[in-house]
Amino acid sequence: MSNQVEASIYDYPKYYDLLFGSDVAAEFRFLKACFAKHAGCEVKRIFEPACGTGRLLIKLGRTGYEVSGNDLNPKAVDFCNERLRRYDLPETVVVGDMSNFKVKKKFNAAFNMINSFRHLATEKQAVGHFECMANGMTKGGLYVLGIHLEPTACPAMQEESWSARRGNLVVNSYMWSKGIDRKTRLEHLGLHVDVFTPTKRMRIVDHMEYRTYNQSQFMSLLKKVPKLEIAETYDFSYDIRNPHVVSGTTEDVVYILRKK
Ligand SMILES: C[S@@+](CC[C@H](N)C(=O)[O-])C[C@H]1O[C@@H](n2cnc3c(N)ncnc32)[C@H](O)[C@@H]1O
Repeated sequence: MSNQVEASIYDYPKYYDLLFGSDVAAEFRFLKACFAKHAGCEVKRIFEPACGTGRLLIKLGRTGYEVSGNDLNPKAVDFCNERLRRYDLPETVVVGDMSNFKVKKKFNAAFNMINSFRHLATEKQAVGHFECMANGMTKGGLYVLGIHLEPTACPAMQEESWSARRGNLVVNSYMWSKGIDRKTRLEHLGLHVDVFTPTKRMRIVDHMEYRTYNQSQFMSLLKKVPKLEIAETYDFSYDIRNPHVVSGTTEDVVYILRKK
């Protein structure tokens, strides 16, 4: 590709949002069904840690929920707030670290659907995140957490690709695993995002690290934050009628965590 930049896809919120924001309907329906089925309180206020461009947060805000969020990336935060403003919603997203934050008003539900939690590189950060979430949530509140687990009974998926188009803008991405450092439990991932417009072609060459979890590593982490319990588990088909029992072959899981 002629024009290649080494950068983070998170610094290009428009392209990120097109890739991952074009089909939020299933996640949106699932979240609403979870609130109705599993929350021990009425859900009015929703928080998204690591909200990025706020693809789901905006939709929930437009439906009448009071929404807020945080993200480390100021470009994503600006993008999200600008969109909230466009829909006459308050600009409630802030730059912040999901492993160490406080909220002004407690929320009744939260969500983190596609692995952002795995950006937290250490056990200390992950525990910090769950503590902050539990402290910021009302009793009976829910945290819907979607992650890819490392399966123990079959090989893990090694690559994924996505494609999206809006008008003349086309974005294709390819992500692959470069391997896992067993000492740190960090998986090194490569990501290429190819952007096409009638006048421009560009490749964003990105690299990221995700902490790996198998089911027992996740359970031992959760034990450290006794304020949270697992209400149910699902998979990425987002079918509320079909809870998923986690096994050694499970790769994607949505934990429905509830504040005791
Ligand atoms: C895969 S994106 C997900 C964005 C959004 N949650 C979604 O579902 O589209 C991951 C996001 O996590 C953010 N992030 C990474 N580490 C973070 C941290 N420690 N605290 C807050 N945000 C973080 C990145 O800036 C990025 O916007």
